[in-house]
Amino acid sequence: MNDGTKLSARPDVRAFYDAGPFNLRDSPERHAASLRAGNSLADYPPLVAALASQPRILDVGCGTGWLVNGASLHYGCPAHGIDVSTVAIARASSVASLLGVASSFEVADLFAYRPQERFGLVTSMGVLHHTDDCQAALAYLGESFVADNGAMFIGLYHAWGRRPFLAHFETLRRQRASEEAMFAAFRRLWRGAGRSDHDEVLLQSWFQDQVLHPHETSHTLCEFLPLLDSLGFEVVSTSVNRFGPLPEREALPAMEKQLGQASQRALAEGRYYPGFFAFMARRRYSPNPLTSRRTEFPTILPVLREFAGE
Ligand SMILES: C[S@@+](CC[C@H](N)C(=O)[O-])C[C@H]1O[C@@H](n2cnc3c(N)ncnc32)[C@H](O)[C@@H]1O
Repeated sequence: MNDGTKLSARPDVRAFYDAGPFNLRDSPERHAASLRAGNSLADYPPLVAALASQPRILDVGCGTGWLVNGASLHYGCPAHGIDVSTVAIARASSVASLLGVASSFEVADLFAYRPQERFGLVTSMGVLHHTDDCQAALAYLGESFVADNGAMFIGLYHAWGRRPFLAHFETLRRQRASEEAMFAAFRRLWRGAGRSDHDEVLLQSWFQDQVLHPHETSHTLCEFLPLLDSLGFEVVSTSVNRFGPLPEREALPAMEKQLGQASQRALAEGRYYPGFFAFMARRRYSPNPLTSRRTEFPTILPVLREFAGE
């Protein structure tokens, strides 16, 4: 098993989210009302499909709990959220009480979390790229949290998709733009993408998360494929191609690079484009080393057949 204990949440990241959680609204009541009024999970078709079987959900780095509370409220799924930020968990819990849903929350560092049982669906949206080792964090989730035949739905910054956005704000920083000016620039992009900006607390929380963050990394789906293979997971779908049928692996790098062009275009047109991608991966076989060397079967099979005189 991957040793999650060697890593822990970054102190700067924990302090950052305790000072201002992501996806915050100005009161628990407004938070609950927004969850009742809309279902953000519906933005992710594979997530909705996975919820049909009512899996037990663990949301890792749940923040203020939109996914956990949304899954309980809109799909009746048993859902548990963990997050290293006590402030985020306090908000998520009070929203759950207001909604009267049975979701549960716990303050925990993902690397120190040892669940009693595994989960049919493990989600983690925008979290693992704020750790010191995104690959190790993903490996730990896959090995330690996901049940046999379970799945994980992971959202991360994309290496190509994220770059233009970061470069834009880096240029402003170099020009010594004030935080106020950068907030104004972010608001323009936000509006340009057709997003409503009447909730100042929410907008501020996104600005901080997107522009002022102390630590983030960005990734490609391709870079995780060897790890997912070794853990016994198969990618089912990805936002890289809008959750369409998966292309051959060889075609994936070119497809991923297109996210960079889409991001450039969005910036040129004054639209917010976070450069985020998600993928659903399902456990296809046990991580037990005796059974996980799936790739060896095809090569050894002809030899076995020869022995058997086939
Ligand atoms: C960008 S926010 C995303 C929150 C939530 N998933 C959402 O989509 O609104 C990242 C969250 O990850 C949490 N986090 C970062 N490192 C963590 C760790 N090692 N263990 C648990 N939570 C962590 C932060 O406290 C923060 O709430």
